[in-house]
Amino acid sequence: MAQADWQDILQYCMANGILIKRGVKEKLLEMDNPMSIVEKAEPGFLKLEDFGAPVKVLDESPADLARVIAPLVETAPVPVFKIHGLADYNMDDFPMKATDASSDIEVHWEITGNSVTEGRMDDIRSCFNDRLKKIKQMIVKAGLPTRCSDIARLQSERIRFTGYENIACAIGLVNEPRSTKNGHLIFDLEDHTGAMTCLLRKDDEDPNPVVTSGILPDNVIGVSGSFSRDGDLFYISDLHWPDLPNRQRVNAEQGVSVAFLSDIHVGSKTFLEDQWYKMAQWMREDPLGHTIKYLILSGDVVDGVGIYPNQDKELAITDLYHQYSHFARLIELLPDWVECILLPGNHDAVRPAEPQPALEPDIQQDYNTTKFVGNPCEFSLHGVRLLSYHGKSIDDFVAGMRTITYGSPVDAMKQMMLQRHLAPQWGGKTPLSPEPQDNLVISTIPDIFVTGHVHGHSCINHKGTTLVCSSTWQDQTSYQRMLGFQPQPCILTVVNLGTHKTASIPFA
Ligand SMILES: [Fe+2]
Ligand SMILES: [Fe+2]
Repeated sequence: MAQADWQDILQYCMANGILIKRGVKEKLLEMDNPMSIVEKAEPGFLKLEDFGAPVKVLDESPADLARVIAPLVETAPVPVFKIHGLADYNMDDFPMKATDASSDIEVHWEITGNSVTEGRMDDIRSCFNDRLKKIKQMIVKAGLPTRCSDIARLQSERIRFTGYENIACAIGLVNEPRSTKNGHLIFDLEDHTGAMTCLLRKDDEDPNPVVTSGILPDNVIGVSGSFSRDGDLFYISDLHWPDLPNRQRVNAEQGVSVAFLSDIHVGSKTFLEDQWYKMAQWMREDPLGHTIKYLILSGDVVDGVGIYPNQDKELAITDLYHQYSHFARLIELLPDWVECILLPGNHDAVRPAEPQPALEPDIQQDYNTTKFVGNPCEFSLHGVRLLSYHGKSIDDFVAGMRTITYGSPVDAMKQMMLQRHLAPQWGGKTPLSPEPQDNLVISTIPDIFVTGHVHGHSCINHKGTTLVCSSTWQDQTSYQRMLGFQPQPCILTVVNLGTHKTASIPFA
């Protein structure tokens, strides 16, 4: 039997709680059609005798062990099957009960009450100038091979910068990135003085990953290279980004935990209400649940009304305010030591343009223990810095970069960290509000960066920042079924603020 077939059997067993003892694998591999046995098995240890197979498998009884004479070979441990494939955790890494700590939330920035844009051309210009200025400083700080010049000046002196040895540097906004028919990447680079057309060659021997992945428009990027002889093209030898060193996370003195969820989608027929009750009970009864002092809800807490065509057919609660009041009752089921911090997403009842303000006071009044903030929000819990963003721009990263897929949304989060911007593309899938100060720039690298929106689940360490893609509480929708997308619902991500150890708890 091929190894790939054994993987199929293993996956089926994991998904159905069937455990395989030592010796059974080998017997299964000798069979012509082992899946016919496995598919009839009940959860628990698989016994081949139950299916008429004349097999005696070594069990743990002393009588069986006594028959083993020689040689005694040390056997590999039997793998522990975890249906969801999620890593185990140690309670020593989650040392403090939530009830033993006082609340410590400091909001550094969110848009609520701070939006000043009138949506005029001046605001848009100011927004992009502010973005360019902030990220340019970071790129210069990271280091360039030569002094950076304004684009208009470079062009006026372009004769000096022809040939491979006469390197020039510029920093600007990417405009109209596209691939040539030969596979090179070409885009215009703009700053406040002018624009120039840049070309990044496809080089099979020394491939630049950006040629493969593509680049989003309106990114701020540094380029070094030289002009073509006629001065029409700037040949890029290197791209330059802000520095992203490995950093040491801040460890809170009080080792309580923060948990993450997103995209609850209350009001949808596919909202998984029973699993919510299960989670609420777990939080009350499980030692890990007792350490959770904060629960971050990263947007789309309700399904909303009129968000997409024919949505009413998919709604169990068709009134928007009833959706929010129902969610308020579900929050009440959580233990009273849990403080919720809630930001909106693209399904919520606020303006869709980002940055989005917090939900309106008439919605907030139904909630007793919830803090409402805007999207995105930068805040600290016990000194540990968090950046929470719903994640709508992941749609732009998936559409605009060939290497990013909905199956691995943390890759989009890594790009946001690299480019120091949450939603760079203007006029894409993410509506943006042109605030004169561009606060979607990631000015301070957070200890924990959390998104949602894509209904997947991830929790990884990336250069000293914990990246959390929060799980949803909504089952697969008909739209997702049509796309062949399988969400990963009902997984609570828990991060300890003192140790930064993580746990992911499944409830579905
Ligand atoms: Fe969602
Ligand atoms: Fe969303």
